[in-house]
Amino acid sequence: MSYILALDLGTTGNRAFLFDQAVNIAGQAYQELTQYYPQPGWVEHDAEEIWNATRSLIESVGNDQVKAIGLTVQRETCLLWDKTTGKPLHRAIVWQDRRTAPFCNELRDRGLEGEIYDRTGLVLDAYFSATKLRWLLDQVKGVDLNNVLAGTIDSWILWNLTDGKVHATDHSNASRTLLMNLKTGQWDQTLLDLFGIPLHMLPSIQPSLSHFGDYAGIPITAILGDQQAALFGQGCDRPGLMKCTYGTGTFLVAHTGSEIVRTDQQLISTIAWTDSDQVGYAIEGSMFTSGACVQWLRDELKMISTAQETAAIAASVPDNGGVYFVPALSGLGTPHWDMSARGAFLGITRGANREHLVRSVLEAIAFQVKEVIDEIEKYSPTPIQKLAVDGGACENDFLMQFQADVLGIAIERPAIRDTTVQGAAFAAGLSAGIWESYDQLVDRRIIDRVFEPSGSDRIQAEFKTWQKAVDRVKRWE
Ligand code: G3P
Repeated sequence: MSYILALDLGTTGNRAFLFDQAVNIAGQAYQELTQYYPQPGWVEHDAEEIWNATRSLIESVGNDQVKAIGLTVQRETCLLWDKTTGKPLHRAIVWQDRRTAPFCNELRDRGLEGEIYDRTGLVLDAYFSATKLRWLLDQVKGVDLNNVLAGTIDSWILWNLTDGKVHATDHSNASRTLLMNLKTGQWDQTLLDLFGIPLHMLPSIQPSLSHFGDYAGIPITAILGDQQAALFGQGCDRPGLMKCTYGTGTFLVAHTGSEIVRTDQQLISTIAWTDSDQVGYAIEGSMFTSGACVQWLRDELKMISTAQETAAIAASVPDNGGVYFVPALSGLGTPHWDMSARGAFLGITRGANREHLVRSVLEAIAFQVKEVIDEIEKYSPTPIQKLAVDGGACENDFLMQFQADVLGIAIERPAIRDTTVQGAAFAAGLSAGIWESYDQLVDRRIIDRVFEPSGSDRIQAEFKTWQKAVDRVKRWE
C-alpha cells in the first residue's frame, strides 16, 4: 500500500493528513499556531514554530510507505531567513497584517495602482507579500543580503524539508506576492525594482504539480496555496466552477480556465494551479476575517467557550435584534479594499443581548460572501446555481442555512470538510503517478448536506442594512 502525506500549514494551525491509495484518511494530526499581535493591526508568526510543528506532525502521522508529499500553506505570509544559520531574521509577517498600509497608499498616490494590477492581477493592498518583504528588508539594514533568502511559508518549509537544498515556490503562491507577472508566470523585474527586492533572494517558480525536492527520500510532488488547494480538492477545474472556504478568512475562488479574466479590480485575478503543460487561472474574492471573528468572540471577548456553540446561540433568537457586525478586524478585502476600515457592532439598543451579538457575527460572515457572489455574477456567463463550501466554519448549520438564505442558492457541503488538505493530497498523488484520474478522485467525494434557500425577503432587507453598517466603518484610520 502506498500513502500520500498532505501538509496544510494554515493561519491558525498546522495539520497533516495521511491518505491511503484508496483515498481513505489513514491518519491525521493538528497543532494550533501561536499568533503574535505586537501592535494594533499587526499579526506575526514564528516561522521556526511552523517548521517544528511540521516536523512533529510528519513524525506523528507518517509511515515508511509514504510515496509522495503535498504541501499547502496560508498564502502571502512571508519572511526572510539567513541561509547559513537557517534562522529567520524576523518573525513572519502574516497576510492579515496591515502595517504596510501607508506604503501602499504612497504607491497609490504615485499613480502605480493600475500598472501593478495589470502586471499581477492584484489590488494594491497590504494583504499581499511585496510590501511586507520591503518592510522586513528595511529592518535588517547592514545584513549581507547575499546570505539572505526570502519567501512565503511554502518556500520556507520546502527549504527546511530539503535540508536547505531547494529554494522554490509554485505559481499559485507566487501569484500572491505582488511580484509575479500573471502573464509570464515569472518574477517581474519592474516590480522587483519598484519594491526593491533583489531577485537572488527569491525562490524559483515551478508548476504546482511538479517535483520540488525530497524529504527523507520522499518526493514532494505538489505545492499549492491553501485556497487553490481547496479549489483543486473541490473538483473546480474549469470555468463556472467555484468554491468558498470558511477558514480564518473566507475565500471564494472561481476557476476561469486557461485565460486570465480581468475584472473591475474588486475581484483579483490569480493562478489556480499549474502543471508541466497547463496554466489554470481564477478570480477570487478575499474576505479577511470570518473564523477569526468567532475566535475573537471566544478568546478576547470571552463571550463563547467554543466556536461550535455559536450555531445554537444564534438560533436561540428569532433575529439579530437590529445588531449588525462589520468584520473588518484586518481591514476589508473584496469588494471594498479598505485597509483602514476597522471592526464594529452597530445598531445596539438596550434590548440587545449576547445572543444577538453572536448571531450578528455569523450573519456578517454570510453577508460578506453575498457581496462577493454579486461581484462574481457580473463575470459569470450563466447565473450561479449553487455554491460548494468547505473549511472549519461550514460545520456551522446556522451559518450554512443563513448563507443559502442570503444568497438565494443552494449550499453544498462535502462530508470531508478539510478540502484544502484533500486537494494537496490529490495534487501530490496525481503528480507522483500514484493516482491517474483527477475526475475519479473528485467523483468519490461525498456530499454531506445541501442547504436550500428559504426565500426570506427579510434577510435581503437585512443585507442592505448591513451594507450601510459597512459604509460607516470605512476610511476609519
Ligand atoms: O490568503 C490567506 C489564506 O491563504 C489564508 O487561509 O485557511 O489560513 O484562513 P486560512
